[in-house]
Amino acid sequence: MDPIALRTDRLLLDQPTLDDIDAITETCRGPECERFLTTPWPYEREHARGFVADYVPDCWRTGGEATWAIRLDGRFAGVIGVMVPTSEVGFWLVRELRGRGIMPEAVRAVAEWAVSDTGLGLERLGWQCLPGNAASVAVARKSGFEFTGWEPAWHPTRDGAHPDSPSGRYVPLAAGPEAARAARESWQALDTADWG
Ligand SMILES: CC(C)(COP(=O)(O)OP(=O)(O)OC[C@H]1O[C@@H](n2cnc3c(N)ncnc32)[C@H](O)[C@@H]1OP(=O)(O)O)[C@@H](O)C(=O)NCCC(=O)NCCS
Repeated sequence: MDPIALRTDRLLLDQPTLDDIDAITETCRGPECERFLTTPWPYEREHARGFVADYVPDCWRTGGEATWAIRLDGRFAGVIGVMVPTSEVGFWLVRELRGRGIMPEAVRAVAEWAVSDTGLGLERLGWQCLPGNAASVAVARKSGFEFTGWEPAWHPTRDGAHPDSPSGRYVPLAAGPEAARAARESWQALDTADWG
């Protein structure tokens, strides 16, 4: 699979480069990434270099994962990817650019590409986050995912556990406004009151 670039109103999604290593390293050293992701920990610059130089191009070549750098006005803003064997989306944003709705915009573009025949042609695109990750829930809700319930974590946490985790599936734009409304309403069933 050859890497392709995607564009949205504000964003360019293209391939991460060695110039992005500092921002990747800094973000992946953040407390949210320690708590909610399974990226290496402690996160070293070499991890970022390997991610950019080897992991991402290898994944495109084998078709195992489609991964992009998110750019806002040319500035590196984060990473988003679709893991093909498990058909799921994953993402993170640099801390300074959070709270601007960047990630839902990126997720929507990637999700539409992932389910399209000219993209990955996936029949289902899933999302999941660890309990407590209210920002990720908000992104999934705003990007057109439907809450499908709690499932054991698809990937082991850093301590090897599979805690029950909120899960969802993408509802494509082609499914129409009624399906989109049902997807939005599905989130009412997710009680995050004790997440603090
Ligand atoms: C998840 C992440 C990409 C969201 O980015 P973002 O820029 O905050 O996304 P948005 O600007 O769309 O904001 C998301 C929503 O989450 C809300 N939010 C953010 N942090 C929150 C928190 N700690 N508690 C509750 N709500 C929170 C925001 O208010 C916003 O809601 P609103 O639009 O209804 O006001 C970002 O927080 C991140 O990179 N986190 C670390 C990595 C991660 O957890 N990735 C997901 C793994 S499943």
